Formats: sequence, structure tokens, C-alpha cells
Amino acid sequence: MPELRIALDEEKLADRAAEDIAAWIGEVLTRGNKFFHWVLAGGSTPRRLYERLAEPPYRDEIPWNRVRVFWGDERFVPVDHPDSNVRAVSESLLRKVKIPSANIFAPRTDLPTVEAAAAQYEKDLKYLFHVIPRFHLVLLGLGEDGHIASLFPKSPHLQEEHRWVVAVKDAPKPPPERLSLTMPLINNADQVMFLISGEAKADVVRRALNEPIGKYPCQYVWPMAGTVVWWLDQAAYPGGALS
Ligand code: 6PG
Repeated sequence: MPELRIALDEEKLADRAAEDIAAWIGEVLTRGNKFFHWVLAGGSTPRRLYERLAEPPYRDEIPWNRVRVFWGDERFVPVDHPDSNVRAVSESLLRKVKIPSANIFAPRTDLPTVEAAAAQYEKDLKYLFHVIPRFHLVLLGLGEDGHIASLFPKSPHLQEEHRWVVAVKDAPKPPPERLSLTMPLINNADQVMFLISGEAKADVVRRALNEPIGKYPCQYVWPMAGTVVWWLDQAAYPGGALS
């Protein structure tokens, strides 16, 4: 069972998660790490969290020059497309804080195919890390079907053991073409944090936490030598239904 942290509502969820992330960045950098390596989540849930981190005190107190950001997944659309996760985070956070562009490791979706984009992102990560990276934080959302990043139920990519990034061609959540980090990278993290908000997620939260592991990709997230925290607001938390 992951550690569950419950916030009153969406606003408080953003506040509390921002507080946690800022503290974690401080702790990791105090340990002597030159950089904090953070995999950002896509989708709509984290937007308020990103906006909160772009406001005082976090905007000014987090040493953004020592934070390197990556994406857990990206839709294969132009970077100025409304569906782009890179665009979403750039607008809500990255353009508002003093993070050097050299610290932003975004997937390239201007390549001819999603396969080429996935291969290039994997090449970029391998050039930086050489060996499988141990991200200090992997931030994830949760789909109503239990998907994480762009790893969907019954996808063969859930069993991928060697590739760091895969191309997804048939995502049930539009747009269909995406690239996604794989489970080995996610499960090599120091900390995985889920951010889950809204009544629409309560059913999958209850099922994923109570049903045997297998059906929901979120159940595969179990860092071997790290922690996993589920941050939820009350609307997404099924409460007493948890065994
Ligand atoms: C994506 C996300 C995806 C998302 C969930 C939840 O690119 O779509 O990475 O995994 O986190 O689908 O999405 P919402 O936060 O919008 O509910």
C-alpha cells in the first residue's frame, strides 16, 4: 500500500504537494547532489501545482538553476499544440522561474514519427545519464483506467524491461500517438509522487488500492529502493472504502 496523503480540496492539494516537493528538492541538494532530477507529469491535474511553484515563496526559494526537468510522457503533437505537455508546463511553471534552458530536457515532437521522437528522447537521456537514471522525483497523474504516463492497461509496454522510452501508437486517451518513459525508469526513482484530484478518480483509486495487482498500470509503480506517495484531495479519496 503506498503512503496516502489527503488534502481538503484541489487548491490545498497543490499547496501541500508544492510544500513537499520544495522540501524534497532542498533535502536532495543538501545531500550533495549537484542537481535535482525531476520527471514532470502531464495531463491537467498538476497544472495548479506547477502554478503554485511559480509563485512566492517557491518561485524565489527553490534553486531552479540546480533543478533539471524531464517529461514522463508527451503527446506526439507540435510543442505549441494545446495538447502538448511541454507547452502546459512551460506556460504554468518554466517560463516563470529562473530555470536555465540547459536544465530542460524536453522530448522532441518535431521529428517525422513518434518512433523517432521516442528513440531521440531515449538517446538524449542516455547521453546525459549513461546508465539507467535514478530520478529524485517522478511526478505522475492517474487516469480513470489506472494508466500512468502513457502506459495504458493491457499495453505490452507495461512489461518493457530494456527500453527507457517507448512510442505509443494507440493510446485510448487522445491523442493516440505518444511517447512514454517505461516502468524500469519509473521504478528506479528515489521518490514517485502521484497527484490525484476529483471525484472522477475515486473509483479507480479504490479499485487500484484494493484489487490484486495486475489490472491497473498504477499498481506496477513500486520503486525498488524508493518511496511512493499518493497525494489525493478528498474528492478523489474513497475514504472508508479502503480496506
Ligand atoms: C498525459 C498524462 C496522463 C495523465 C492522466 C491523468 O499525458 O495524458 O501523462 O498520464 O497524467 O491521464 O490526466 P488528468 O490529470 O488530466 O486527469
